[in-house]
Amino acid sequence: MSRRSAVSKHNATADEHQRELVKLIREFSQRHHLHGVFSDFVEICALSISNSVDQPQFQVREKRYLEIVGKYTKDEIDRFARMFAQLVLSFEKRVEEMRVAGAGLTDVLGAAYMMLELGNDRAGQFFTPYELSRLMAKMIIGDGGDAVKAHGFMRLQEPACGAAGMVIAAAESLNDAGFNYQRALHATCIDIDPCCVHMAYVQLSLLHIPAIVVHGNALSAQVWGLWYTPAHILGGWRWKLRARLEATDGDPVATPDGRSEAAEDVVPASQEPVDGDIAIAEAPAATGTSVTDLFEDAVQATPAQRMFDAIDQLSLF
Ligand SMILES: C[S@@+](CC[C@H](N)C(=O)[O-])C[C@H]1O[C@@H](n2cnc3c(N)ncnc32)[C@H](O)[C@@H]1O
Repeated sequence: MSRRSAVSKHNATADEHQRELVKLIREFSQRHHLHGVFSDFVEICALSISNSVDQPQFQVREKRYLEIVGKYTKDEIDRFARMFAQLVLSFEKRVEEMRVAGAGLTDVLGAAYMMLELGNDRAGQFFTPYELSRLMAKMIIGDGGDAVKAHGFMRLQEPACGAAGMVIAAAESLNDAGFNYQRALHATCIDIDPCCVHMAYVQLSLLHIPAIVVHGNALSAQVWGLWYTPAHILGGWRWKLRARLEATDGDPVATPDGRSEAAEDVVPASQEPVDGDIAIAEAPAATGTSVTDLFEDAVQATPAQRMFDAIDQLSLF
């Protein structure tokens, strides 16, 4: 989407909190580059959320938080807090309206990012307009899918997640199909760009979607950082995913192209997820967890084109 259409779309569809968020970001422009401000904003939000639930990564992330806020004045830090409040209020309003009036969610940070023209052309950071993501999600998820009916939840992998607009749309589609997406969905999201990782993590955390956001390269399978949403940690998803893996061991697993295959073909028993829910911060995830292990194991155990076969749904970038 071009900047001009992003601006007109924002003008037509943004709620008052989204508008206030963009206005507050623009107030930084006299002293700072907006791209740096936006990146710092989403990173400190991500660090704060992570540090409320992810104890093993606390110290490294707290140090990084202090490094970032050290660049700003007290008034500017206060503005960051007001920006975060607007983001929370926008999601609260949309979730409330979705429940009461059937209105939809949206990709708040992705829309702001596009409107402020912060994308990096070389990395292909042009986020899908949310309406299109919603349409695709509705077509794929339909009445909830076999995985939710059979296992109570579906796993979804987004290998180039951007701000996770497509995952938000999948959550909305599950809601429309009558499921509580906070229980019926687990997402593993990957992006090569740390700013996108932080955007995705913050939005999925605020919507309480169980997810692991991987800072990594979906093509080479390098992993530099792991961000577990509060819903993932507090909901005991490590155990749920392991139980699901054990339950389906040897049973047919649906693949994105409709084929079936034995789960043990995808994740050999010797490579089952290991203990240790939280990986070391920013280190290669050699002993990572659950779906991240599935991601890595699938890459190691199968030809590259089948690396996403171990999940129920595939969102395309
Ligand atoms: C066109 S955007 C799409 C984002 C999102 N899926 C959407 O539809 O809004 C592509 C995203 O892929 C990411 N990306 C590019 N190469 C990647 C790679 N090798 N591994 C993971 N992410 C990558 C970019 O940083 C960017 O966020």
